[in-house]
Amino acid sequence: MNQLIVDTKNFNFSYTKTKKDIQNLELKVPKGSIYGFLGPNGSGKSTTIRLILGLLKKDTGTVALFGEQYGVKTRLQILNRVGALIENPSLYEHLHAIDNLRIAANYRQNIPGSRISEVLEIVKLTHAKNKKVKEYSLGMKQRLGLAISLLSNPELIILDEPTNGLDPKGIIEMRTLIKDLNETYGTTIFISSHLLSEIEKTCTHVGIIRNGEMLYQDTVAKLKESKGTHIKIDIEVDKPTEALSILTNLKKGKTFLVDGFLQIEVKNKEEITAIIDALRTEGINIYQVSIKNNFEELFLSLTES
Ligand SMILES: Nc1ncnc2c1ncn2[C@@H]1O[C@H](COP(=O)(O)OP(=O)(O)OP(=O)(O)O)[C@@H](O)[C@H]1O
Ligand SMILES: [Mg+2]
Repeated sequence: MNQLIVDTKNFNFSYTKTKKDIQNLELKVPKGSIYGFLGPNGSGKSTTIRLILGLLKKDTGTVALFGEQYGVKTRLQILNRVGALIENPSLYEHLHAIDNLRIAANYRQNIPGSRISEVLEIVKLTHAKNKKVKEYSLGMKQRLGLAISLLSNPELIILDEPTNGLDPKGIIEMRTLIKDLNETYGTTIFISSHLLSEIEKTCTHVGIIRNGEMLYQDTVAKLKESKGTHIKIDIEVDKPTEALSILTNLKKGKTFLVDGFLQIEVKNKEEITAIIDALRTEGINIYQVSIKNNFEELFLSLTES
């Protein structure tokens, strides 16, 4: 099996006693992937990233990076192999870009002087290295932040919404950069976003989070196949076996009988009405209809910018 670069189990975290902010999250980020961590505002993306980096302390569960947990090796030893860009990078605005890189390199261990020009080249800022950061556009600042995170030649890069606030040109530049890093150096990239279209364009793998829970995790290719066929509903009726044969004949979608409940996967909400009508016409009493996994609604919430 492909090695997992990030692997969390039974991951739980709450900021306050009244609400669970991260619930049993199992992140599986394969080596060499570009993993898109997708979720609407407030779903727990930044919190998860902080937990992975050990900036927040989880309530329960384990996190392994490169197969190793904090504690077995020290956190800093592990984090030496990770580059992170969380929200806006903290930069010295009144200093030149190259001085920002020199300062950042001094904070880290064993960065050769030549690495500074290498990272400038990677993020395509060599031409602007002697400009003051306050003269940089937001896109250039993001790329300089990325350059800083690349200083230690990380095997894993974690980016929290790196295209937030960028104009279309800036977004394309960042997207190209991420793909190049992955292709040229084999760097595993973990990138969060609230936009499905962004993840579809850039990523090989995807994890979808809502209310701190992982709803879906697979390759982007599989996600594209399953989009639109994925409203799962449970129906409680008085005569489940009869109802099952009615629905099977109706051919609206795959139907199962599980623990006395009918489970059916439909393409859209209109099909739910058709199913209810068919059952009622045959004299079946319906006690409950619940949507288990409403991908349609989820995807809608992920397409607004
Ligand atoms: N410091 C904090 N104290 C208490 N609650 C917090 C704190 N930070 C975040 N939360 C809550 O935790 C939940 C997850 O927030 P988080 O910032 O991780 O979401 P997000 O997916 O990164 O959202 P966004 O897309 O807006 O960046 C939200 O309900 C948020 O209100
Ligand atoms: Mg966030």
